Amino acid sequence: MAFPHLIFFLFFTSSIPFSISQPTDQAPPPAAASCNHIFLSYSFDQGTKLPPNSTDLARQPYRFESTLTVLNNGLTELKSWKVFVGFQHDEFLVSASGAVLADGNSFPGNVGNGTVFAGFPMTDLKTAIQTAGDITQMQVQVKLLGTQFGVAPPSSPMPSNISLANDGYLCPKPTLQGKSEMHVCCIPDKRVKTNITTQEFLPRQKGDLTIMYDVTRTYDSSYWAQVTISNHNPLGRLDYWKLNWDWMRDEFIFSMKGAYPSVVDSTDCIFGRQGTYYRDLDFSNVLSCERRPTIVDLPPTKANDTTLGLIPFCCRNGTILPSHMDASKSISAFQMQVFKMPPDLNRSQITPPQNWQISGILNPTYKCGQPVRVSPSEFPDSSGLPLNSTAVASWQVVCNITHAKDDTPKCCVSFSSYYNDSVIPCRTCACGCSQNSARTCNATSPAMLLPPEALLVPFENRTAMAVAWAGLKHYPSPNPMPCADNCGVSINWHLYTDYRDGWSARITLFNWGEVNFADWFAAVQMNKAAPGFQAMYSFNATTLELDGLNNTIFMQGHPGLNYLVGETDGPNPVKDPRVPGKQQSVISFTKKNIQGLNMAAGDGFPTKVFFNGEECLVPKMFPANNSRKNLASFIPSILMLVLVFMFIQQ
Ligand SMILES: *[C@@H]1O[C@H](CO)[C@@H](O)[C@H](O)[C@H]1NC(C)=O
Ligand SMILES: *[C@@H]1O[C@H](CO)[C@@H](O)[C@H](O)[C@H]1NC(C)=O
Ligand SMILES: *[C@@H]1O[C@H](CO)[C@@H](O)[C@H](O)[C@H]1NC(C)=O
Ligand SMILES: *[C@@H]1O[C@H](CO)[C@@H](O)[C@H](O)[C@H]1NC(C)=O
Ligand SMILES: *[C@@H]1O[C@H](CO)[C@@H](O)[C@H](O)[C@H]1NC(C)=O
Ligand SMILES: *[C@@H]1O[C@H](CO)[C@@H](O)[C@H](O)[C@H]1NC(C)=O
Ligand SMILES: *[C@@H]1O[C@H](CO)[C@@H](O)[C@H](O)[C@H]1NC(C)=O
Ligand SMILES: *[C@@H]1O[C@H](CO)[C@@H](O)[C@H](O)[C@H]1NC(C)=O
Ligand SMILES: *[C@@H]1O[C@H](CO)[C@@H](O)[C@H](O)[C@H]1NC(C)=O
Ligand SMILES: *[C@@H]1O[C@H](CO)[C@@H](O)[C@H](O)[C@H]1NC(C)=O
Ligand SMILES: *[C@@H]1O[C@H](CO)[C@@H](O)[C@H](O)[C@H]1NC(C)=O
Ligand SMILES: *[C@@H]1O[C@H](CO)[C@@H](O)[C@H](O)[C@H]1NC(C)=O
Repeated sequence: MAFPHLIFFLFFTSSIPFSISQPTDQAPPPAAASCNHIFLSYSFDQGTKLPPNSTDLARQPYRFESTLTVLNNGLTELKSWKVFVGFQHDEFLVSASGAVLADGNSFPGNVGNGTVFAGFPMTDLKTAIQTAGDITQMQVQVKLLGTQFGVAPPSSPMPSNISLANDGYLCPKPTLQGKSEMHVCCIPDKRVKTNITTQEFLPRQKGDLTIMYDVTRTYDSSYWAQVTISNHNPLGRLDYWKLNWDWMRDEFIFSMKGAYPSVVDSTDCIFGRQGTYYRDLDFSNVLSCERRPTIVDLPPTKANDTTLGLIPFCCRNGTILPSHMDASKSISAFQMQVFKMPPDLNRSQITPPQNWQISGILNPTYKCGQPVRVSPSEFPDSSGLPLNSTAVASWQVVCNITHAKDDTPKCCVSFSSYYNDSVIPCRTCACGCSQNSARTCNATSPAMLLPPEALLVPFENRTAMAVAWAGLKHYPSPNPMPCADNCGVSINWHLYTDYRDGWSARITLFNWGEVNFADWFAAVQMNKAAPGFQAMYSFNATTLELDGLNNTIFMQGHPGLNYLVGETDGPNPVKDPRVPGKQQSVISFTKKNIQGLNMAAGDGFPTKVFFNGEECLVPKMFPANNSRKNLASFIPSILMLVLVFMFIQQ
């Protein structure tokens, strides 16, 4: 075992050369005296080599211990402090006392590209004036422990930069003092007129999704919180949402209304500190003792349940829609009773959970910041009187949609047109390929062009059609075959007609998954042609302003067509392939007032396609237009085929 040795080694080394630089707790570094605003410092305290020995010196791991100091020497209180540390040695952070990661990730984690710390539990730094110079209220010292790569002692693995990430401050370049300390004095930005000085709370922020944590009632050992999730992005959406957070102070959830933990389990309490403290509590009634619970919405059938439901905006199976679709469904809410543990047994001692995360099925990826204390929310009074009741305390969590490079899309698009009888299918592995499948199929070879009817059958059953079509059309037929797109939803965009004054397209949505999509929506972006949008026949479509441009057409099903069902067995499962859920509509455009449209060169095809807020992968090419002459003679009709299939199914 190398571990005991390591501890001994660390102890041994730390006790000799580094003990001098070990900061004594709470005393600010001397340079702080010359700063009249927010003083930041980062000092590397000690580090040692870690196993394994690496031949590549740049990949040799080392332990590091550092101290980040944030001190308010200014005139105004610093609310919800946030500090950026520009780590640059592929750092892997194991722990940080007195702070959490502002992006909501938990430790341990990679911070190699720099990260923002947010204060926890001390989020606000008071001024010397407010506290008669009480350094414990003016300053936090964050002890960082982690692993870095490639910087061997006696060199110090310093970050490239430290700066205050709060709005309204300017930080110059930090100054190095010696080799292992850097500091900077950040000053309020005179140009930014913020109301921080005049307000007791930070202003509420805007974001794609916001979550309010409102404490509505508080007692010494427990409190009631109302959690309200609101969607603000016109293409944002969640289905079957799942919400996670970390309890920081050993709290547990006693009861809940309007939502439920996905696992009801109190074993962690019974065998933990909570069971010892709350001796008389019947833990069989406790809902969740997990440190990181997963909360899910209740089904609509529980909406009027007197014990579980009767919360406004609750109980929709976790569906949250854009507000322009249905404002009453753009919010989800639930209430819970939280039990606290010593030493927090005081009605004013409330710590919101940290590290929030929310996700859904086939939905955009959201990244949430840490809760920020804001002015107390107001709720309409339950008595029906025309007055508002105020929350005891309110925190806001802001979540934004993110697009990580390694996110695989969850839906894809195929293109076809009246002038070419081959369909450009979804790209190979559009929604990812598993390692196993890559052995029997080629994950890099382009997808084979298909006859239109092949779009109606699952990928597994297209092989014969694709090969026969390739033979007929003299297209290459690779061996092994290209892999599937593996998408749960695919969308066909068919350029249907093109005449002098206008044109039309037909859009077909296919659901190849098991999950039904209630209240589905789709959106297409067309850079040039979108202003000519006229009408959509089977869907309810409107143009949507997105990022200041009117180039998005938003579509949803009319009542009765707002359900995209999952894949089902064919009429005769032995003989017939499985049948995807389908929705289809024609969309018409005018060319009036739009110059120089060239449909076949791409103007007739969307540049971006969204399904339920998730961006779908579009093909890299458009159907080739080499047979303009037989324009009218050939209208391959997926519509016809859909009708035929529907007919067969009856
Ligand atoms: C790793 O390197 C150290 C010196 O840096 C050496 O003392 C030790 O024996 C090496 N361990 C192995 C397993 O090679
Ligand atoms: C850091 O940035 C590089 C380049 O943008 C990226 O490849 C890498 O994954 C990032 N690392 C982390 C830990 O985010
Ligand atoms: C340090 O980081 C801050 C915030 O990211 C940035 O505004 C500033 O320009 C950076 N300074 C240097 C010297 O890179
Ligand atoms: C600051 O507050 C005043 C009054 O409360 C308000 O009129 C003003 O718009 C606010 N300024 C900003 C930048 O929020
Ligand atoms: C719940 O009650 C409301 C009002 O009484 C009613 O409109 C709604 O249909 C009920 N919902 C269920 C699931 O019973
Ligand atoms: C809610 O979800 C359950 C199972 O997850 C499903 O059976 C039910 O049909 C859903 N209800 C609605 C209205 O989507
Ligand atoms: C279309 O949807 C909007 C909301 O997005 C709604 O206000 C309108 O009534 C719908 N139109 C039809 C014809 O259903
Ligand atoms: C979310 O985006 C808004 C702007 O759209 C930005 O002001 C805010 O800081 C972002 N929040 C997070 C947590 O990234
Ligand atoms: C109650 O609060 C809402 C916002 O939450 C506000 O629009 C309304 O004016 C308030 N009503 C009273 C009586 O203060
Ligand atoms: C997979 O397809 C690519 C591109 O068409 C080709 O270069 C490669 O040789 C193929 N791999 C196999 C195993 O056939
Ligand atoms: C988008 O269209 C709406 C309504 O047609 C209009 O009010 C708005 O100004 C347009 N926005 C842009 C950026 O053209
Ligand atoms: C479709 O493909 C699946 C999986 O390869 C196979 O089990 C099924 O028999 C095929 N169906 C037909 C009708 O060919």
